[in-house]
Amino acid sequence: VDPHALVELAREVGLEAAALVRARRPEGRVGVADTKSSRVDVVTEVDRASEELIRERLLAARPDDGFLGEEGGGVRGTSGVEWVVDPIDGTVNFVYGIPAYAVSIAARLDGPDGATEVAGYVVNIATGEEWAAVLGAGAWRWSGEERRPLHAPEPPPLAEALVGTGFGYLPERRREQGLAVAQLLPQVRDVRRIGAAALDLCALADGTLDAYVEQGLQPWDRAAGALVAREAGVRVEGLDGAPDGRLVMAAHPALAGEYFDVVRACGF
Ligand code: IPD
Repeated sequence: VDPHALVELAREVGLEAAALVRARRPEGRVGVADTKSSRVDVVTEVDRASEELIRERLLAARPDDGFLGEEGGGVRGTSGVEWVVDPIDGTVNFVYGIPAYAVSIAARLDGPDGATEVAGYVVNIATGEEWAAVLGAGAWRWSGEERRPLHAPEPPPLAEALVGTGFGYLPERRREQGLAVAQLLPQVRDVRRIGAAALDLCALADGTLDAYVEQGLQPWDRAAGALVAREAGVRVEGLDGAPDGRLVMAAHPALAGEYFDVVRACGF
């Protein structure tokens, strides 16, 4: 399997899905079709339509692959490649019209130690900004058809770091998460809650955030963005299988040791 071909396919399909989402977004606020884990965990008809398009296009091009999507479109494959897709990461931003919602597409490859992300693609649907990465071959942004390689810049000291975070939708977990953020806030420059985990992780690759922490992320929220961040030189910890389970922490290696200790001490 050539991961460069996978990322090209992810881009072609991701741009098509982004165009569909833009075309289907009415003026004003979007109607919510349903709720999932709690009344604030919403899904719209456009999330579903975007996932269906992505699944159909990917599996038409590569019929033996598996597919895992946020809106439930799971398919088991036989090729060893599985696509992990968030058709709209940042659904609440999409509903309100805040311009930070993305299509996130990653390809995982089965290996002796489990599945590894080998290709990732993220597009901010509202702005058209695009990021991608291939395992071992770096991360980049597109500017038209030109690729600009990404290297996360040297971070400031922790006390001057801008930290991205997010919250899952379960009310009983949100209280704990809010308390942990309250502990962290006086120790850093400030905290941002952008509202789309894929864009948070890409912001680390760009250097528009210095660090990130979130509990309870799902694979589709983070698979593509984490690969982009890592390939840009960011340390990302706590993914599946790691000791912290679903706690995702990320920072430039120059900040990571100290920052990860502080995050744990804050009770994340
Ligand atoms: C959510 C966003 C948000 C994060 C939540 C995710 P969704 O994804 O990534 O930033 O804080 O944990 O569930 O539901 O909009 O695809």
